[in-house]
Amino acid sequence: MKKGLRNWRLFSLFGMMALLLAGCGKPFLSTLQPAGEVADMQYSLMLLSTSIMVLVIVVVAIIFVYVVIRFRRRKGEENKIPKQVEGSHKLEIIWTVIPIILLLILAVPTVLTTFKLADVKAMNDKDRDKKGTVVVNVRANLYWWEFEYPDYGIITSQDLVVPTNEKVYFNLIASDVKHSFWIPAVGGKMDTNTDNKNQFWLVFDQKATDKAGGVFYGKCAELCGPSHALMDFKVRPLPRDQFDAWVKKMQNAKKPVVTDPVAKQGEAIFNKSCIGCHAVTPLDKRPEQARTAPNLANFGDRQRIAGILEHNEENLKKWLRDPESVKPGNKMTGTYGKLSEEQIDALAKYLMSLKVE
Ligand code: CUA
Repeated sequence: MKKGLRNWRLFSLFGMMALLLAGCGKPFLSTLQPAGEVADMQYSLMLLSTSIMVLVIVVVAIIFVYVVIRFRRRKGEENKIPKQVEGSHKLEIIWTVIPIILLLILAVPTVLTTFKLADVKAMNDKDRDKKGTVVVNVRANLYWWEFEYPDYGIITSQDLVVPTNEKVYFNLIASDVKHSFWIPAVGGKMDTNTDNKNQFWLVFDQKATDKAGGVFYGKCAELCGPSHALMDFKVRPLPRDQFDAWVKKMQNAKKPVVTDPVAKQGEAIFNKSCIGCHAVTPLDKRPEQARTAPNLANFGDRQRIAGILEHNEENLKKWLRDPESVKPGNKMTGTYGKLSEEQIDALAKYLMSLKVE
């Protein structure tokens, strides 16, 4: 009775854990809800390898149970030795050939998919601009992301905007240490290195985007420091015409005109210290080495503060007051002296007013 109770407890614990893990599958973040061609291919490979593994486990378990029952010692047959099969040619061949076949079933689609995913000819084509191929240069930094659209001259940070239902190509680099670019629901991951450029492509499905609420989450997938787990970015896929409109808006964005008196005060503080690292227009002509902090041109339109906090003025003030408590090890800590509450209010007002859309 007691044992039965213990088993039941164990069973309910596992049941609860399964239920809990089932809750992890959010459409904006889950590899198990693929949102594009690449994610689909990677998901199919995952299913294929998982089913082969499950098949092997089930077959081995059945044989194991059968052998344990069939050949156990019985009363009155204590000294009976079953027929010995060591060195049997037939059996040796069977258990060599079956794994080879299984490995082939796994290897052929995996290698084919790998080559398909590595096909980046279109992005290195000289006429790619005329063909409308969208290329994004991704630069990973401790702990923020920069997205440069070389054919449009635009630079954004933290929020990646892409057209849906077409191939979008990526050049991946890092400016300090190794990071890894990953949009779990859409595909990846691929390392961003300091000494070479990696290239790959992704497709963002429109229907899946709608289902995810218009935004996917991106992650850094390479342990890079104390705030590695907080190195998030957002992806906003748009239908092609809306994407083109966004590009136009970004290209035509002027230096923001501030009218609110508090925000004006904030602008003055910003121009005295923050401007050394941050830019406020999307057409950022500075060389890469000078772009040491995120471009804030569309800060007011962003999805998150510092990539992780909900986008509101209160959280922005929290971040300005003490960045270290939000993102340990970030590069902003210590670059400016202690700000008064009044200065923080003014800066927050100004930053929230930086909008392109
Ligand atoms: Cu960057 Cu982990």
